[in-house]
Amino acid sequence: MALSTLNPTKTASWKKLEKHFEELKNVSMQEMFKQDATRAEKFSILWNDFLIDYSKNIINKETIALLLELANEMGLKSGIEDYFGGGIINQTENRAVLHTALRAKESEVINVNGVNVIPEVYEVKNKIKAFTNEVTSGKRTGYTGKAFTDVVNIGIGGSDLGPAMVVEALQYYKNDLNVHFVSNVDGDHVNEIIKKLNPETTLFVIVSKTFTTQETLTNSETIRKWFLQSASQEDVAKHFVAVSTNLQKVTEFGINPDNVFPMWDWVGGRFSLWSAVGLSISLAVGFDNFEELLNGANEMDEHFKTADFDRNIPVVLALLSVWYNNFFGAESEALIPYTQYLQKLAPYLQQGTMESNGKSVGRDGKEVDYQTGTIIWGEPGTNAQHAFFQLIHQGTKLIPTDFIGYVQPLYGDNNHHDKLMSNFFAQTEALLNGKEEAKVQAEFDKKGLSAEAAAFLLPFKVFAGNKPTNTFLIQKLTPKSLGSLISLYEHKIFVQGFIWNIFSYDQWGVELGKQLANSILDEINSNEVKNHDSSTASLLSHFLRNK
Ligand code: F6P
Repeated sequence: MALSTLNPTKTASWKKLEKHFEELKNVSMQEMFKQDATRAEKFSILWNDFLIDYSKNIINKETIALLLELANEMGLKSGIEDYFGGGIINQTENRAVLHTALRAKESEVINVNGVNVIPEVYEVKNKIKAFTNEVTSGKRTGYTGKAFTDVVNIGIGGSDLGPAMVVEALQYYKNDLNVHFVSNVDGDHVNEIIKKLNPETTLFVIVSKTFTTQETLTNSETIRKWFLQSASQEDVAKHFVAVSTNLQKVTEFGINPDNVFPMWDWVGGRFSLWSAVGLSISLAVGFDNFEELLNGANEMDEHFKTADFDRNIPVVLALLSVWYNNFFGAESEALIPYTQYLQKLAPYLQQGTMESNGKSVGRDGKEVDYQTGTIIWGEPGTNAQHAFFQLIHQGTKLIPTDFIGYVQPLYGDNNHHDKLMSNFFAQTEALLNGKEEAKVQAEFDKKGLSAEAAAFLLPFKVFAGNKPTNTFLIQKLTPKSLGSLISLYEHKIFVQGFIWNIFSYDQWGVELGKQLANSILDEINSNEVKNHDSSTASLLSHFLRNK
């Protein structure tokens, strides 16, 4: 079934939310906390080893009730059923959206065009397992019989960001293989990686759903050329494997069909780390940990599918995002993990969120007249505090922020961890409460500041507070909890796009640049600048004259 095509702003609940916003926009969270000692309890969800506290938002019970009414009026329940049930919800590409099938239990039946995809999913999973075990045990070797020491993932976008983020996040669980990522078509990127490698002991995983992506093919060709300086053509089969839907192109590249890990058109690139696209994850942390990652995602899938909307983490977080985006006019959301391991989470979710929901045409084919996709950005705390937190605290923009922290550190270093976490708690409290005039004045008095100096400094030292945050307090960073966390954000993206009445699973906007780059490359190769606007033409001419 196709998703509904209702314009959210035309619903009765949207009108009520507009009215409600007028009543709430100047209410401070500090006041609401003072008036209700049970606020944290009311607005938090405890699920598995996650505590999600969303009480530090500019909301009251009515806000949540109206947002849930909006979700219901839009038909979210049946949208979720279509999403999980293999409905063709990526209508502009005529595809189902089933990354959730990649982590489903073997006993499940999920049909795409009448065929159950689960047996195929498990066949590929078993292939990943066998391959991983052969490489990590040293049974599978390079062309001189030596065990592999390095793995290079060659891919871009969804064929890079997910595996790169997870391999970094699960470093603690890693084996001895060094895993590298080559993505940019910038030759300096690939050359910097190659120079660290020994061709005899390096395995290359080419990841491209389409196997037509310029960056990935160029990098793969450069690497193959470099490899052939020391090895022979037959050795390519031992050192290069591919993950793709395009078997023909992969074979043309010289990859042994046995070394091809298939994927399916119902897995979008930016949601594909659960498929064989995650082969480098499995190689880095072992198949059991990879499977745990999938299990964690599956548990979040079940929660999303079955929990009532008012206790449903992805639903609540997505609705809060709609609240700020469409009523408060917030443009971006910051994501601050208090663990260095998650330093690539924001770039990963930038693709997930912005490629999915950066759309301006509704599912009814009409241009939308309201805001859609949020801008995602962030860095780990505490580094972020010393970089851009000033703007979140005292700038003019409203930036709802997710704080992600863990109860337990991985190395058990409580000295560090307690300091890290005291910052985590302090920041959300500071963003909530700010610093009122009386407090600032009391500090001045204590310091014995002159009345004149105090009057001058006062406005700069007062913080308004009332800045919304969500706090994710998770027991420990494990493959399983990471899987749940990623899945949570995937479903948040679905709900946002669903409410905004857009198609979240295509990416036509990225295609135009790709086409133009190809035709400009022809001009560069023939040293001839064709028809362009005067700016592009003069830039190209300058480049050609001076290269
Ligand atoms: O950036 C556009 C995009 O199509 C992404 O959606 C995708 O993840 C990436 O390019 C790579 O595509 P492929 O896996 O086909 O090489």
